[in-house]
Amino acid sequence: MVKHRKAIETLEPYRPGKPISEVKRELGLTEVIKLASNENPLGCSPKAVEAIIKWTQEVSLYPDGNCTELKGALAQRLNVEPEQLLFGAGSDQILEIIAQTYINPGDTAITCWPSFSRYEAAIQVMDGRMIRIPLTRDYRFDLNGILNSITDTTRIIWICNPNNPTGTIITAEELRAFLEKVPQNVLVVLDEAYYEYARCGDYPESIELLKQYNNVIILRTFSKAYGLAGLRIGYAISNKEIIELLNRVRGPFNVNAAAQAAALAALDDQEFVQRSIQINQEGKEYLYQAFEEMGLEYIPTHTNFIMVNVGRNSLEVFRDLLYKGVIIRSGDIFDMDNWIRVTIGTPQQNRRFIEALKEVLKR
Ligand SMILES: Cc1ncc(COP(=O)(O)O)c(C=O)c1O
Repeated sequence: MVKHRKAIETLEPYRPGKPISEVKRELGLTEVIKLASNENPLGCSPKAVEAIIKWTQEVSLYPDGNCTELKGALAQRLNVEPEQLLFGAGSDQILEIIAQTYINPGDTAITCWPSFSRYEAAIQVMDGRMIRIPLTRDYRFDLNGILNSITDTTRIIWICNPNNPTGTIITAEELRAFLEKVPQNVLVVLDEAYYEYARCGDYPESIELLKQYNNVIILRTFSKAYGLAGLRIGYAISNKEIIELLNRVRGPFNVNAAAQAAALAALDDQEFVQRSIQINQEGKEYLYQAFEEMGLEYIPTHTNFIMVNVGRNSLEVFRDLLYKGVIIRSGDIFDMDNWIRVTIGTPQQNRRFIEALKEVLKR
């Protein structure tokens, strides 16, 4: 047998949210809703669908590896230079490109836990080691804890803002004070996958920080508010020097042409994004009220998902909800055993979830 790399031995495969088709088949259900992967319950912009249909005539051609048209449009929207942008097959792929660019064997990275599990996987594959700092008592990133853990081997700090799975943010003021204290030779990755849902109030407009700090990468995605998760497209914003390095590691055709066409069209439909934010806000208020009426503790969220304490084994609640045709995420994967994470859906989906949860918890 061919010997695999040692770094692979401790890697755990990603546990995705259960697909609707599998649940229908396994449990013989006809009506199943998935509130497990923080997808957009409205789907995506009709303009994006049109662009995909048009693209089918060009399916035999390789995509534009530089994503030129999309890059130009996004640069204009964000008020940055095109050379400050890099696209990936989801921001997931960019996490990997960052680790491949910066991590030598024995290097370390720091993040908080519970947070997005792919940071650790990206570091481990490169023979690096992740240091996990617990979230604060109010489920937020512990920036002081991170600062205190920086050593000579630290290369990357991952900040999930807002944090998945807790939905909490660090504020503009906190972020600026933090960046002042991080050594210039440590990269800070700001994962803003839920930026569109979070932006307002104290949430940082992090692009401004790129002018002042040359060790920052921002990650955003078309998977959430733009509703294009199935196509796999996300992007990094940083200074030209960092982007040029990441670009050396990126595969030549890493973003498919359908994703590029759809993202370009989706950018042009901000009305859809606004509608998504609005329905999310209404759903959030409905769920807060329902949880309060049920006497359940929840973590106020800046995202399109909510973590709620169901007061019993989350895997059991997950399984019981599954039998009722509702797929959510159990908290055990985040070491939050009595909690579940639910994506905010359409009004109808939210009502169905609450009805099912009430029945499950009655038992
Ligand atoms: C915090 C966070 N970062 C990154 C991602 C990956 O998103 P993408 O679909 O762009 O790969 C997700 C997806 O759930 C996420 O929650």
